[in-house]
Amino acid sequence: MHPPAETDDLSADLRRAAQALCRADRVAVLTGASVSAESGVPTFRGADGLWEGYSIEEVATPTAFRRDPELVWRFYNLRRANVRKVQPNAGHRALVALEDRWGERFTLVTQNVDGLHRKAGSRHVLELHGNLGRVRCTRCHVITDRAGEDLPDLPNCEACGHLLRPDIVWFHEMLPAGVWEEAASETARCQCFLVVGTSAVVYPAAGLIDLARASGAAVIEVNLETTDACAVGAIPLLGPSGVVLPRLVKQLEMTESNS
Ligand code: OAD
Repeated sequence: MHPPAETDDLSADLRRAAQALCRADRVAVLTGASVSAESGVPTFRGADGLWEGYSIEEVATPTAFRRDPELVWRFYNLRRANVRKVQPNAGHRALVALEDRWGERFTLVTQNVDGLHRKAGSRHVLELHGNLGRVRCTRCHVITDRAGEDLPDLPNCEACGHLLRPDIVWFHEMLPAGVWEEAASETARCQCFLVVGTSAVVYPAAGLIDLARASGAAVIEVNLETTDACAVGAIPLLGPSGVVLPRLVKQLEMTESNS
């Protein structure tokens, strides 16, 4: 019996990816919604990408919040409640195993706002799009962690009484400056850049892939399908991240013990 050709391709690509990782002194990773999809957090695009007839882009903008803050808060309160119930999966844990190998020379940049990477045990996490657990005052801008709480649909700041908003980066907003600069600098100095479970269409996050490539890093993509951003020159690891990432860690151990 021969394994299907797809399995052969994945095995060969896993070996190439492990070799690229072995050669890297510094490693950076960019993750997207699908790493958490396997934990039960809906992704943005595709079948789950609508909420009460609104596209996520329509609910997640400053204009939407000005127009109807209660609607936006209802959306985020549902997401907050869902995230409290879910647990990290094998993909999150495999990324912790990678960080254990590279230590401070490993950076995990995520577009996810669910906090599952930290919950899994990742330490050097740069959250480009904020965090669902945190809230920010629209007037005094104080940020507080209210992750464990149910909030009303129009929550107010405990310090000044004004309306709170989720501490999330919405469409048409800038990324948090310090976080973005660190993500760009770690990307520019890594030798291996892993892109996991993102459609890589939302900028500036997706621009990190070009930056890594321009800086000479090997790019590895873990996805169900190859994205346009990684179509040229990346090592494709096609399959669910919860399956592929643990296999990559195993392959890395084998490659290291053979060298
Ligand atoms: P998307 O929902 O756009 O993309 C998910 C990607 O993961 C797609 O390319 C799928 O093919 C792939 N995929 C699906 N299941 C997978 C699995 N089990 N394993 C691996 N890959 C899988 O999510 P993001 O790219 O994260 O921004 O979206 C980027 C940003 O757009 C989000 O951070 C958010 C959103 O609107 C803001 O909120 C600012």
